[in-house]
Amino acid sequence: MSKEGPIRLAVFASGSGSNFEALVEAVRKQTVDAEVALLVCDKPDAFALTRAKRLAVPSVSFYPKQFPSKGSFEKEVLDHLEEAGVDLIVLAGYMRIIGSTLLEAFDNRIINIHPSLLPFYPGKQGIQDAFDAGAIETGVTVHLVDEGIDTGEILAQEKVAIDPDDTIESLEEKIHAVEHVLYPEVIQTYIKKLQKEYA
Ligand code: GAR
Repeated sequence: MSKEGPIRLAVFASGSGSNFEALVEAVRKQTVDAEVALLVCDKPDAFALTRAKRLAVPSVSFYPKQFPSKGSFEKEVLDHLEEAGVDLIVLAGYMRIIGSTLLEAFDNRIINIHPSLLPFYPGKQGIQDAFDAGAIETGVTVHLVDEGIDTGEILAQEKVAIDPDDTIESLEEKIHAVEHVLYPEVIQTYIKKLQKEYA
């Protein structure tokens, strides 16, 4: 990556997209020095797509099962990323394992946010798993994506207490509030690092 102008981000989401929206807001407030070039969604009825429309961010959505293989699905996604001039992929509630096609094309340029203190409670329901385990503390992790499930190099973590009167809903709210601040901060730090490396 060597480029002029702001770093171009693609956000991948499968669900509500609140982290996507927080990132778009951070970009618009200029606390993140980037452009959100594209939302990629693997669930065509996800609320994240409604947010993208409202925020005037271009989006594409797919039914991955309609592709003969993970590789062919990711190749199609890659074509859209290249067309949009994307430099960095940000996963925000994207509930699909990234395969070799995207990992090779975006080596060290895919970041994920996970709602637990990894390596504890990886997988699809990190908040629920910590709550069900009766943990007194959980948190948020931002990490680089590798071929494993929530195993890449950790860029930042922040703790969140689970209080005796917390419900799963109140815990989710606390986690999301942390995510919406932490993720843009870590993305901004990572962008600065990439810009230095490729200067
Ligand atoms: C976030 O809590 C994110 O950490 C989690 O999905 C939620 C998406 O919320 N990601 C994972 O669990 C990944 N394993 P959002 O759609 O409102 O941003």
